[in-house]
Amino acid sequence: MDLPRSFSIREGGSRILNPFDEHKLATLGRALRLPAGSRILDLACGKGEMLCTWARDLGYTGLGVDVSSSFIADADTRARELGVESRVGFRHDDAAGFVHDPEADVASCMGASWIGGGPTWRDSVTGTLALLQRSVRPGGLLLLGEPFWKLRPQSEEALAACHAQTLDDFAELPSLLDHFADLDYDLVEVVMADEHSWDRYAASQWLAIRRWLDANPDDELHGELRTELDASPRQHLLHQRSHLGWGVFVLMRR
Ligand SMILES: C[S@@+](CC[C@H](N)C(=O)[O-])C[C@H]1O[C@@H](n2cnc3c(N)ncnc32)[C@H](O)[C@@H]1O
Repeated sequence: MDLPRSFSIREGGSRILNPFDEHKLATLGRALRLPAGSRILDLACGKGEMLCTWARDLGYTGLGVDVSSSFIADADTRARELGVESRVGFRHDDAAGFVHDPEADVASCMGASWIGGGPTWRDSVTGTLALLQRSVRPGGLLLLGEPFWKLRPQSEEALAACHAQTLDDFAELPSLLDHFADLDYDLVEVVMADEHSWDRYAASQWLAIRRWLDANPDDELHGELRTELDASPRQHLLHQRSHLGWGVFVLMRR
């Protein structure tokens, strides 16, 4: 069980694997207004930047779970680098079905709601919130990092550039908010990515891919990643930037 190698190449230059920059991640941590020692379970934690920096800056503690062994190794390294290895831990595992014990103050899933099921965004959000709810104490906070259509694509080219097969792959914001309410959640905080923070996520991948291509001309992944670098900047700058939004929605069960 692991992610394909192309992920660690593409995200080799990034610590945050979502459209937040470090300022937005810090804003979100502060916005939770939790006491030091509060415990967070982060499903699909990537390289663990959220847990590590929140442990350093806010004294939060936690466990991150991710299916990528390379990202988990990076998360362990980062925890040692920031001197927070006694407050946070990381586990290489499939987060689907993971239940934390003892119950956490916060359960989060940022940018991986497919772990809750599919095929539509409604199924994924419903399943992921159920997964998170099982892992959090009564009155705890759920953090869901989720994309949505800022603007509905009007062409097949724009849809494909946003890596969507159909319009139903992502919610529109009103439908997403209605869905939270239908599932009996209060939205109690939110931090939104913007075009500039999204640029950090997207564009850092182009440089990582280009440097890897130069250093690995004979690798079997060379052709695939060359094709990706040819397409990605246009896809992001001409389509994703204008059509897609992303935010972390902080929810509490009513
Ligand atoms: C877009 S990244 C977000 C990572 C992290 N939450 C962040 O915001 O930096 C998606 C992550 O989901 C992880 N992932 C995908 N499927 C998973 C699963 N079934 N269980 C655990 N992690 C998974 C990937 O390895 C990747 O780290």
